[in-house]
Amino acid sequence: MTSHDFDQWIDRRQTGSLKWDDAAVLFDSADVLPLWVADTDFPAPPPVLEAIRQRVEHGILGYPSPRFLAFDALAGWLQKRHGWQTDTSWMVSTPGVVTAISVAVQTLSQPGDKIIIQPPVYPPFFSSVQRNGRTLVENPLILENGRYRMDFDDLARKAAGARMLVLCSPHNPVGRVWSAAELKTLADICLANDLIILTDEIHGDLIYPGHRHIPLATLDDAVAKHTVTFVAPSKTFNTAGLYTSTVVIPDAALRKDFATGIQTLSIGKSNIFGIAAMEAAYLHGEPWLAQLLPYLKGNADYLAEALNHQTPNIKVQVPEGTYLAWLDCRDLGLTPENLASFFAQEAKVGLNNGASFGSEGVGFMRLNFGCARPLLKEAVARIAQAYAARGF
Ligand SMILES: Cc1ncc(COP(=O)(O)O)c(C=O)c1O
Repeated sequence: MTSHDFDQWIDRRQTGSLKWDDAAVLFDSADVLPLWVADTDFPAPPPVLEAIRQRVEHGILGYPSPRFLAFDALAGWLQKRHGWQTDTSWMVSTPGVVTAISVAVQTLSQPGDKIIIQPPVYPPFFSSVQRNGRTLVENPLILENGRYRMDFDDLARKAAGARMLVLCSPHNPVGRVWSAAELKTLADICLANDLIILTDEIHGDLIYPGHRHIPLATLDDAVAKHTVTFVAPSKTFNTAGLYTSTVVIPDAALRKDFATGIQTLSIGKSNIFGIAAMEAAYLHGEPWLAQLLPYLKGNADYLAEALNHQTPNIKVQVPEGTYLAWLDCRDLGLTPENLASFFAQEAKVGLNNGASFGSEGVGFMRLNFGCARPLLKEAVARIAQAYAARGF
């Protein structure tokens, strides 16, 4: 079996990388270690790279079709990894999950409709509701003993009169992998109020031991009929730059409206490398993923242990899934601006400001630990040094 050396750091500077090459400008600080936007610093699995190479070797880069090959591969993956029996006719190809969520908002709701999100949450959830002229309704998560849970009483009140809920499952940034009981309660409330549920499951393959990702649509047929699921190989296999995602919609009427929106915008044509990568990832990427997950868990364990020990006023929980850690820095007593500047200017690490995930994120920072461990160690050393220098 091939052994993958995730410890090896590959220089991404000067490769047109958003994470690395834009960091100095974004963080207004030279030599910042970038641990922000959610891609990893690992090469994609060898079979994925080989599939792209074969496309190049073949030489003809005309219009591709995701149907048959890539959709079959995805259906096989969803069945094998998550026990979800799908039909490839339910699948619509999209150029990225954020784009697809925005189109779903446009096509499955009306201007002014109330759409519920659960902050602190991935920032584009706010903008896809607000920029499309819908009414944002917030059902904040509750933080209890370092772990987030949903507020179902609040949700039940707010679901009455709403049109849609956008679920993040697993949740970015808080790292929760929702349990069957939580998903069922959420679905019961949504169905009782006839809500459509957009469920962003892009992190669904990045799950740590003791937890299991449950695609919302597997709960039962009634839930499936109200559910629009967003998946992509991009987080799991680090292919985000290929902008290839899939929306799975079991209900024919919802699917028709969504697909019409995609056609209207003329964004349903896939990328030939994205399709090749998606097929190879889902067919042949599993052994690589089996090695990646323990490595990421090792990073998460190291990070939590090191920061909780060396910088006790920055509290870190090991997430249940995703490669994102949610640092509770509220005890530092800094404003969001000063907190961001502490990390960027003093520690020289580039993190996402928690405030961008909603007001519940004020005082938090999000750290992407999808990198070689030596780099993560360097980041921790920088944070610990800046923390000591400040005398926090
Ligand atoms: C929850 C979630 N959805 C979507 C995306 C981005 O998806 P895409 O690049 O396919 O638009 C991310 C990336 O960080 C994410 O965390």
